[in-house]
Amino acid sequence: MVRMMETSVIDMTAGIDGTEMARAGRIIREGGLVAFPTETVYGLGANALDEEASAKIYAAKGRPSDNPLIVHICEFSALDKIASQIPEAAVKLADAFWPGPLTMIFPKTEMVPYGTTGGLDTVAVRMPDHPIAQALIEAGGGYIAAPSANTSGRPSPTKAAHVAEDLSGRIDMILDGGAVGIGLESTIVDLTGEYPVILRPGYINQSMLEAVIGKVKMDPGLTADDPNLRPKAPGMKYRHYAPKASLTIVEGEAQAVRRKINELAREEQKAGGMIGIIATQESAADYPIGIVKAAGTRTEELTIAMHLYSILREFDELGVSKIYSEAFDTPQMGQAIMNRLIKAAGHQIITA
Ligand code: TXA
Ligand code: MG
Repeated sequence: MVRMMETSVIDMTAGIDGTEMARAGRIIREGGLVAFPTETVYGLGANALDEEASAKIYAAKGRPSDNPLIVHICEFSALDKIASQIPEAAVKLADAFWPGPLTMIFPKTEMVPYGTTGGLDTVAVRMPDHPIAQALIEAGGGYIAAPSANTSGRPSPTKAAHVAEDLSGRIDMILDGGAVGIGLESTIVDLTGEYPVILRPGYINQSMLEAVIGKVKMDPGLTADDPNLRPKAPGMKYRHYAPKASLTIVEGEAQAVRRKINELAREEQKAGGMIGIIATQESAADYPIGIVKAAGTRTEELTIAMHLYSILREFDELGVSKIYSEAFDTPQMGQAIMNRLIKAAGHQIITA
């Protein structure tokens, strides 16, 4: 049972309020929960070194207890305290991408409780690139465990209102920093094996990592249809990001995709269903049937990443019965966008 409480929402969209930030830091140090913006998605923070505080995160989100949390730090020297081995590759990646949307996995030290790592001997660490996140980590004692601040199974929050929708009454405070900049969770790289392995694709893609440290592999469990081949990040096996409606992705040549989606929409309309379509600014006008949402423009892929989760939430609210989405194999973030979208679709993807 989660004890219900009053959640204070603090508006910091115009800048950091020092008094409120000090209060937020106190809440974290005393074992409470504060949601905060990062450059990727909103996180639900607790003191990572306090097992009971971490346990509150799992309870508030309804998160399975074997799914480990990412520890957020705000200075590189903090890494030593929680990671028992820091390979050269990690130093190079930190130099290149921290603060930023990159999480690295290390063997943990005793300082990190198993309640934070889901029982694992490794710890995921990230230094976020957001002034509010950095100020909170500093005020909260330097080590903040934070998963995405959504109810387990819902799309990650990209604005404070999404956090309030899911967690109001279950956490102490929400720091509102406005809409996030990236909209998809950080890239996760495992550095504990023979080769660096991407456990979750994100804004920083495989070739950006390889430009810094050489060969990087993708976790084969990410793309496999074989249910025996499990992703290595425990969280990637769950059907996260699941909208209430059934979602189908249509891939193929642009015009063929539009024809196919229109054909599917017509069938669903005949059956009395309510249709949602995820398109782009380039294609939105070509869909006469259904509620059409342009995620962004193909010429600026970040706009697509940024609006994806928000659109899935909007379609939930509208109560559509079927969602059809174009595929988004964009150059930098295509892998990350499609990874989230395919999971939301429960692997329903057809070729036009
Ligand atoms: O962008 C992000 O990473 C956001 C913001 C708030 O920082 N956080 C986030 O956390 O996405 P979460 O809990 O929603 O996703 C963390 C993922 C899960 O799939 C989890 O299983 C994996 O990281 N993970 C955490 N620790 C791990 C470990 N020691 N080994 C393997 N996977 C780990
Ligand atoms: Mg999450």
